[in-house]
Amino acid sequence: MSLVERREGEAAAAAADPLYPPTVEPAAGLLPLPSFITRFIRNPLRALPRAVYEEPLVVHPGARGGLVWVTSPALIERILLHESDNFPKTLLEKRVFEPILGDGILTSQGQSWRWQRRTAAPLFRHQDLVAQVPAMTSVAEERLDLWRTGPATVTRHIEQEMADVTYDVFTHTLLAGAGKADGEIIKRRGAEFLSRISWEIAWGMLQLPRWAWHPARSSMKHAARDMRAAIDRIIAKRRAAHGEPGRDILGRLLTARDPETNQPMSDKQVADNLLTFIAAGHETTAKALTWTLYLLARAPQWQQRVRDEVMAVSGRNPIAARDLDKLAVTTRVLKEGMRLYPPAPVLSRTVGRDLELGGHRLAVGTLIIVPVYAIHRHRKLWTDPDRFDPDRFLPENESDHLRTQFMPFGFGQRTCIGMSFAMLEATAVLATLVRGARFDWDGRHLPEPISRVTLQPKGGMPLVVTPI
Ligand code: HEM
Repeated sequence: MSLVERREGEAAAAAADPLYPPTVEPAAGLLPLPSFITRFIRNPLRALPRAVYEEPLVVHPGARGGLVWVTSPALIERILLHESDNFPKTLLEKRVFEPILGDGILTSQGQSWRWQRRTAAPLFRHQDLVAQVPAMTSVAEERLDLWRTGPATVTRHIEQEMADVTYDVFTHTLLAGAGKADGEIIKRRGAEFLSRISWEIAWGMLQLPRWAWHPARSSMKHAARDMRAAIDRIIAKRRAAHGEPGRDILGRLLTARDPETNQPMSDKQVADNLLTFIAAGHETTAKALTWTLYLLARAPQWQQRVRDEVMAVSGRNPIAARDLDKLAVTTRVLKEGMRLYPPAPVLSRTVGRDLELGGHRLAVGTLIIVPVYAIHRHRKLWTDPDRFDPDRFLPENESDHLRTQFMPFGFGQRTCIGMSFAMLEATAVLATLVRGARFDWDGRHLPEPISRVTLQPKGGMPLVVTPI
């Protein structure tokens, strides 16, 4: 048996153990550029060399313009917090997201970013978000009602169901009254755009011109065009309503004024930001729920612990905001779900000026990858890293964690603005769904996690659902 066959055999055996859910076999070493790109397009996580899971910093000497993976918590703090001006967001990210997100809060920098972040921040105050919990809970209850109208036990495509749930939460909380038809376009075309995105990222890494052909170019262009058109319709509908602009995210964007020029946002800026919030705000939370439900289907003893806890805290009542702090097991399970399957598995930055990092001289323009997926499974940071063990997040264990060894929401200046919203939503929805239905593994599906900006399950996420 060859070494590769033995490794694959070991991986398969481990994947069959419910407490060792599927992962990605890393590349044995640094790959030459052609094989690196081929693996990258299939799944960027497959192009990560094993050393990235073991070392604090790995340099790819063959990459155009320079490429470094950084997993050391101290170095990540330098990049994302202490010296963030020396490590701006990348042109690559801009190139990839521009067609849909334009120059919104996720992709902009400097003054433009600061203004947009300040404009949106009041929507995400924790005390105000708590008032949204009943809406989050009722969307989950409605999903259970829908499941109850069908046959008793059905295999459901949980990744699609969760995208529907989190989109509905979004339109019931942060964006009032977006039409259903436009919602469908945004969800479906958004998923198509993401499914092909590795082509554009790989072409960007190779520094090929933006017009260079690749097999995903035309479908991505059409998906982006349809999404923008749907967003424009949502904005036009609100403008045509003539009344109060509204207190939701769209209302805020429409009434925002640049503190320096007192100018309102242009229609394009409003659209860039609205699409950014929809994209960043629903797809990520959907993936957190999808993977966590998979883990619970594989580990029924944990699923039952969550159910028992929810019954003890809320009984059969709708889960209220005051209940969420008491759902300690549910929260631990969710965190462990996001550790093993971080919804945003990779962050990127660039080197803004020649500098030294971890003993290496890096030239301006070097691409820095912060591989959250590998950090969350790093051999030097975690004990038995591939094992599903929510007790890692017991308070006494969590207090030993370094600040950036668990970073599903990023870190530093550009930390996720929706973190509190996402945690409230994911906890309320998970608790409601697990109390109201049983989720079983079909005995076969071992989905490979694929990095497509968010972490997608290869082959989707069919789970057997039985309302209880
Ligand atoms: C489980 C759910 C979520 C995860 C895992 C997640 C993850 C992240 C991460 C890792 C970043 C940092 C990106 C970087 O540093 O390059 C980020 C930024 C961002 N997220 Fe989230 N996010 C989630 C939910 C949300 C929600 C619910 C919203 C809004 C409703 C949101 C809006 C944003 C925005 C606007 C940014 C850009 C912030 C900036 O650059 O200033 N996210 N998110």
